[in-house]
Amino acid sequence: MRRSAITFAATCALVAATLTVARPALAAVPYEDPSLPVATRVEDLLSRMTLDEKIGQMTQAERASITPAEVTQYKIGSILSGGGSAPSPNTATGWADMVDRFQNGALATPLRIPLIYGSDAVHGHNNLAGATIFPHNIGLGATRDPALVQQVGAATAEEVQGSGVDWTFSPCLCVARNDRWGRTYESFGEKPELPVQMATIIDGYQGKGVLATAKHYVGDGGTTGGVDQGDTQLSEAELRAVHLPPFTEAVRRNVASVMVSYSSWNGQKLHGNDYLITTVLKGELGFKGFVVSDWNGIDQIEGGTGFTASEVRRAVNAGIDMVMVPTEWKSFITTLRAEVQAGRVTTARIDDANRRILTKKFEYGLFEKPLADRTFTPTVGSAAHRAVARQAVRESQVLLKNTGNVLPLAKNGGRYFVAGKSADNIGNQSGGWTISWQGASGQTTTGTTILQGIRAAAPGSTVQYNATGAGIDGSYTAAIAVIGETPYAEGQGDRPGSLGLDATDLQALNTLKASGVPVVVVLVSGRPLDIAAQLPDWRALLAAWLPGTEGAGVADVLFGDHNPSGKLPVTWMQTASQEPINDGDGKTPLFPFGFGLTYTGTVESPGQPGTPVASAVTSTSATLTWTAPASGSTPTGYRVYRDSTLLTTVTGLSYQLTGLTPGTTTRYTVVAVDAAGRTGSASAAVTVTTPGTVESPGQPGTPVVSAVTSTSATLTWTAPTSGSTPTGYRVYRDSTLLTTVTGLSYQLTGLTPGTTTRYTVVAVDAAGRTGPASAAATVTTPGGTDPTATCAVTYTASEWGGGGFGGAVTIRNTGGTPLSAWTLAFTFPGNQRVTQGWSATWSQTGAAVTARNESWNGALPAGGTVSIGFNGSYTGTNPRPTAFTVNGATCTVS
Ligand code: BGC
Ligand code: BGC
Repeated sequence: MRRSAITFAATCALVAATLTVARPALAAVPYEDPSLPVATRVEDLLSRMTLDEKIGQMTQAERASITPAEVTQYKIGSILSGGGSAPSPNTATGWADMVDRFQNGALATPLRIPLIYGSDAVHGHNNLAGATIFPHNIGLGATRDPALVQQVGAATAEEVQGSGVDWTFSPCLCVARNDRWGRTYESFGEKPELPVQMATIIDGYQGKGVLATAKHYVGDGGTTGGVDQGDTQLSEAELRAVHLPPFTEAVRRNVASVMVSYSSWNGQKLHGNDYLITTVLKGELGFKGFVVSDWNGIDQIEGGTGFTASEVRRAVNAGIDMVMVPTEWKSFITTLRAEVQAGRVTTARIDDANRRILTKKFEYGLFEKPLADRTFTPTVGSAAHRAVARQAVRESQVLLKNTGNVLPLAKNGGRYFVAGKSADNIGNQSGGWTISWQGASGQTTTGTTILQGIRAAAPGSTVQYNATGAGIDGSYTAAIAVIGETPYAEGQGDRPGSLGLDATDLQALNTLKASGVPVVVVLVSGRPLDIAAQLPDWRALLAAWLPGTEGAGVADVLFGDHNPSGKLPVTWMQTASQEPINDGDGKTPLFPFGFGLTYTGTVESPGQPGTPVASAVTSTSATLTWTAPASGSTPTGYRVYRDSTLLTTVTGLSYQLTGLTPGTTTRYTVVAVDAAGRTGSASAAVTVTTPGTVESPGQPGTPVVSAVTSTSATLTWTAPTSGSTPTGYRVYRDSTLLTTVTGLSYQLTGLTPGTTTRYTVVAVDAAGRTGPASAAATVTTPGGTDPTATCAVTYTASEWGGGGFGGAVTIRNTGGTPLSAWTLAFTFPGNQRVTQGWSATWSQTGAAVTARNESWNGALPAGGTVSIGFNGSYTGTNPRPTAFTVNGATCTVS
């Protein structure tokens, strides 16, 4: 498809204007006129739609169960490819042709509403043969590199676009709390912070015009026993503290869709839960996209086979906007129509679902460019994308043991014996959701196996291979055993029993051990395994997770081309009986969360360069300059990337960009390279916006703060000195829009005494185009008690034993006035320490603890509550704090 590389939110107006030029005077009706605001187009279209057309928009069928003619007849809004469901031939062009056939079916309806095509591109475009397969999320979580993960999303999106697909059912923002769960590898990690950080992948997808899906809402990774589609038995405070934050972050990043989880919360299926879908997600979090159900997910609400009318009604009334009914879509349409006609589903609900779906179809340009944009087709499996994947693989490797510095291995003069069922196996190293739903062992797609990577890395050494270890003798420098799990997906990967190695692996290990050669284990698995009994036999252990098609990234670490930098995204059990085991729960792990060794001594990679600065920006050129890394080996050059595409390698600290397109926004990062070809992590990105024929307003002057009282202040600023003429200014507190004013000042009221807040302004012109934000002004109000704060606090401590405990605090605003910022303060009566906190910025001085709101939960409406939590430790006893204040005001406590 369709859209070009754009930073979406900022440039909707720009896109609309460009498209007007591309398609002049074609619009016969307002909704087809791209110069009108999206909301106007949606209302116009909605006013022309029949009930059947609206129900069609809410229906998603599977490609193998529908024809293009049926798309026309039933006015279908969406089609998906299930896991492994691909056209023949399974090539990018084969896909684009198929999607276009369905799309032409949609365009043959009276209102010509384009359909939206979705597929699970969960680690690259994994249903497409020959696509670049990236590490599964657990490996990406180990990188701790959100900028790289965003590049992974951008590269994936290009391959998705190149095959005509509009929408990926990714990322899984699950917080996997029990390694027995078969979807643990789809999780970025066991603590909410990791999926929150790695939500940058949404910007990677959506910045390239592919809709993302945050899934599975909510609590999928928290089921009792780690049972897939099971029951998450948690208090609301725990659910909010552990499983909700990644979705809050996804909404903040304007994720286009959210998929509902198959799982239940305290016995109730999420697919029928209007409180969590409508009240919390759409209401409290302010989600503006559309909610899609999971594959036949509505069937499970009441538990019988297939769906009933009451399940359809429950699901739609709970707030599901698009229903994934892969095969039974005709009966879904009939059932929902009857429910609406009987008044059991309101037309208001149907209209709301349609508004949400149509808004995204307009925003993503589907009405203007419904057919596949084949510009990206040649990028599928390209060298540039495989380079991004290899970088992700090297950064995801976690070195867990390295006795006597057996690693890195020497490239020259070594004699290496490689064994193990996953050494030469693209299918095993890619895992589930690869070409087929469950994935499979063997040569399932194109790539580099770990063995091939080893051979390429050590041309000056002897590399002997036998999967079982047969033929090894004492003459080798080291044996490399590449072992672990074979592919699985969803519930088929649940392991309620043993989490140990299989008989094949144990046998190969025994053969290697008997030779007396030092054994290096590369563990290819979707989760930590129960290996404590074998570990003493191993000199080194590298957790490779499920790296995907670029096995050379594993060899990069084995041979020291990359100094291992991955850190455990999950806690590693001593024995399976410890499951669930998570950071802070007081259990003693084999390796703790965050653990990961590096090589000391000579093998060092360059550090991260400073964020590039763009200067001398003209409509076609700009200069980027950056600073050298503060640590690591000495760089001999810098690779400059536009998104994930390598532009050039330079030796200095600047680069002149030329040939830019006027009026566009592009994104650049730099990576340092040393004399040995080792690379460090990418710098943060800089965005370059060139002035174009379509001019936006310039940057307003930095706001000046005056007349500061404990609850109010005045901001004044100057108009931009360049660009189109502003007709108004948007005033932001952090990233929250407060208001739009027409003049050059704004009076802030309702501030919290004794707090510091940050403001920027953005100029908007008559066409709705916005310029860059001003520099920020900081307002610090004099302290005192906030007269508007009236509060009630609940405090619950859960004991873990051994002096560890978890604290859950809920703050309710019991006053009649909304709070726009809050700070909770209390004093520990005993010898307690907060070791880690979430959903607030926690700090402790002596016994005094404060928790200050995050940007996303600072607004506390009258009657509203916010739940936060922390992990703590203590010596002696653990008495409860008795007094709590919010913004200085004393709260009631229960
Ligand atoms: C999975 C989802 C997936 C959907 C479509 C379901 O079984 O739970 O994660 O997006 O199928 O393939
Ligand atoms: C589909 C998957 C889906 C699964 C659900 C499979 O047949 O291919 O996409 O997630 O069924 O059970």
